[in-house]
Order: sequence, then C-alpha cells, then structure tokens
Amino acid sequence: MAAAAQQYDLVVVANRLPVDQVRDPDGTVRWTPSPGGLVTAMESVMSGREGAWVGWSGDAGDAQAPFDQEGMHLHPIGLSAQDVEDHYEGFSNETLWPLYHDVIVPARYRRRWYEGYRRVNHRFAAAAAQLAAPGGTVWVHDYQMQLVPAMLRELRPDVRIGWFDHIPFPPVELFAQLPWRRAMIEGLLGADLLGFQRRADAENFLRVCRRLLSLPTRGHTVAVRSDDGTQRIVRAAAFPISIDAAGLEQLARTPEVHERAQQIRKDLGDPEHVLLGVDRLDYTKGIRHRLKAYEELLADGVLRPPETVLVQVATPSRERVAAYIELREQVDATVGRANGDYGRLGHPAIHYLHQTHSKFEMAALYLAADVMLVTPLRDGMNLVAKEYVTCRYDEGGALVLSEFTGAAGELDRAFVCNPHDIGGLKSNIRQALDADPRDKRRRMRAMRRRVREHDVQRWADTFLSALDTPQNPA
Ligand code: G6P
Repeated sequence: MAAAAQQYDLVVVANRLPVDQVRDPDGTVRWTPSPGGLVTAMESVMSGREGAWVGWSGDAGDAQAPFDQEGMHLHPIGLSAQDVEDHYEGFSNETLWPLYHDVIVPARYRRRWYEGYRRVNHRFAAAAAQLAAPGGTVWVHDYQMQLVPAMLRELRPDVRIGWFDHIPFPPVELFAQLPWRRAMIEGLLGADLLGFQRRADAENFLRVCRRLLSLPTRGHTVAVRSDDGTQRIVRAAAFPISIDAAGLEQLARTPEVHERAQQIRKDLGDPEHVLLGVDRLDYTKGIRHRLKAYEELLADGVLRPPETVLVQVATPSRERVAAYIELREQVDATVGRANGDYGRLGHPAIHYLHQTHSKFEMAALYLAADVMLVTPLRDGMNLVAKEYVTCRYDEGGALVLSEFTGAAGELDRAFVCNPHDIGGLKSNIRQALDADPRDKRRRMRAMRRRVREHDVQRWADTFLSALDTPQNPA
C-alpha cells in the first residue's frame, strides 16, 4: 500500500470531520462546526496537538481534497448517497444507535445496511493506514467505526490502535440480538485499548466477549489469539469524557456573554424562573418526558407563565431517519398544545427553538437559566450537563439530571431524577426551583470542581497514555 505524502504520529478516525460542509443556494461551500458531543470534545483535544483527522463531511458525494485547519490535517472520506443510506442512516442510526440505547425504539436489522457499514469502515481504515506514521497511534471513535480497529491492524500491524465508545455499551442480553455480533466484537478486538464512558459499559463489553465468543477475560483485559497462534491482550476500561472547561468558562466570563444573558431574560419577559433544555432532537434525550412533566406542572397550577418559562433548544438531527421524523412531530404537537393551553399573548409557556446555536449563545442561555433540565432515558455521558455547570461561575442555577446519563456518575450533587417517573420528575423540578440558595450554591460548587479537575485534556491524556502502555499477557 502506498503511504500518503505526509504521515502523522496521531491519526483520529471518526465518522464526522470536526466541520460540516454546507452548500449555499448560490453553490458556494462553507464549513460549519459539526453537531454532537464527540466533536465538542475532540475538537479541543486536537487543537493542541499535531495530527490528522479522517472523517466524513456530512454531505453525500465525492471526497473533497484534504486540507489543513488550525494545525490539523483534515482528510475527508466521500460517501455516496447509497453509503449514507446504508452506513450512516441505516446501520449506524437505525441498528446500532437504538440497540446501544436500551432499544428505546426498536432496532432494525438489514443485511444491506451491514454490507454498507463494512464497505465504509474499510474505506476509513484504508485512509488511516496511509496517514499513520510508522509506529504511530490511531484513535478510532464511536459506534459508526467498530470494524475499523481489526481492518486497520490487518493493514498496519505496526500502529497502536485505540477505540473510544462515546455512547453506552449495551448489556449482553440486548447485544445478543445483533445478527453481526461476532464481527462487531472481532472488529473491536483489533484495538489495543477500548475506552468506555462508564465502568458498567466496559463490563458489559467484557461479558459479551466471555458469553458470546467464549474468550477468556481477566480484570479489565481480554486475551485474543491471532491466526499465527500468538496471544494479544486487549484492555477495556472506563475513561469518562469531558469538556474544555477552562475555555468554556473563559467565554462565559466575558462581558458580552453576561450582557447577552441579561438580554435573553429581558426578551423572555423578565420571568421569575427560566427552565432550560438543550439537546439534539433525539428520542434518547427524554424531551417528551420533560415536556410532559412541565405541562403537568402548568396544569396543576404549580408553575405559571409568564412567571415561569421553559426554553427548549432542540438541534436538528438525523432528519431523514423515521424515528426522528416521528419525534419531531410529537414535540411540535406537544409544544403547540402547551402554548395553546397555557400561553398568553406575548408569553408562550415554551420557547421552542429547533435550531443550531453558537457556543456564545449557548453560554448566555446557560447563564440565563435558573434550572437546567437534562433528562435522557439513556446517554453515554451528556456534555450539556458539564457545560451548564462550567458556565455557572456565579455558582447560581440548579441542574436536574437523569440517573441514566454517564454524567450522573460524576455530578451526583445534581437533583438526580428518573425521567420515566413523571411524578418524581415533577417534584425534582420543584425541589430545584425551591431549594435553599445556599444548598444550591454548595451543589454547584462541588459539580464545578469535578468538571474543572476532570476536563477533556485530562481525559485525552489518560486515554493516550494508557494506549501507550503495552498490556502484559494475563
Ligand atoms: C453523538 C454521537 C456522535 C455523533 C453525534 C451527532 O454525540 O456519539 O458520534 O457524531 O451524536 O450525530 P450525527 O449523526 O449528526 O453525527
């Protein structure tokens, strides 16, 4: 295989590049930040390092030429319309995403999608194989790329390979449904180190290796025998991801963000309480449960607009996938009903923004919100919760946080809720609104400290140094 003109000691492989290609109506092409937690975290990790990033531009069509941005070499992979349908919308987001999130919606198993997934994973592996320097490190990310580690090892046995799972890893009882479960596990076992958000995710993976492939595990390791009879040790452990806390706090502390936060409260009619939700519009995020709890609090007369308002930012996501189309219809209808029933002229009960916002606007919204509602039914980590506490340098505000997020393992001083329990969620929201301000400040201080001390740089350093340390055979 011919090596690329330039090679890199660190190569990141993720389904998306950190930037998305947007084509304006006049045909001009712009690049905007890509959505989601993966890019939020990895963008700041990579901006301090030299390396290459292999990913898709978010648009169907031929690959654009590679280019450099902020010291990083971006290497776009082209996906045809068929690849997008099979690999991205189909296997990644209609098979794996629901299966790995507790089948909140049913997972669909289609052989054509799997073929597309394999085809596209191979294209990413081949690009990484060309770009990695001899003995270099390749860091593969997330559920869209689970076959890449083994494919890459086949092409480049000299590189160290890490994989990080940004989403949950399911229990064996659910994972066992996957018709391609063996291929998926063997794909991952091509890596030297597998990183998960929580210990429970790593343990689920190890159990899957034992139960479905009869592989011996010991502690956090799995022993894999190669065709030539040699044994390799693969480590699977938890590395909870985080955010660029210092960078975000610096932004939140600017006078411009402060002024914008005040303006937002004014625009909302200077209410007594501002509740806020910020999510990709995804069925895993518990947006319907949150809206139901809020609607009931309005119906009970516990909360009343205009004294209380809810701002719900829902970033458009995976808009051609059926479950997302259905979710959007349901959320649109619920917001319409709540505003019809409880709004007043100029004072809707819910301000609903189905839009993408800048980091600046998000920081201002976080500062303007008295209560942040993070209520996923299942979430690998949830970086919005970490962003909210980081922006609250004033130690104001309160966080309502679902126990089904990875973040709840770290931010245990939040008002922790079970979003399925609507009654419980309602009392959680009331507690967060009514708690003694000193108690709220103490909680916020503890959560802020946790995120500051476990930021994304620490996460990346810990993962990469673990990847650098060879495992001894068990
Ligand atoms: C989550 C996933 C990422 C994904 C992001 C946005 O954070 O872990 O892998 O990129 O959602 O989703 P999208 O389908 O738009 O890439």
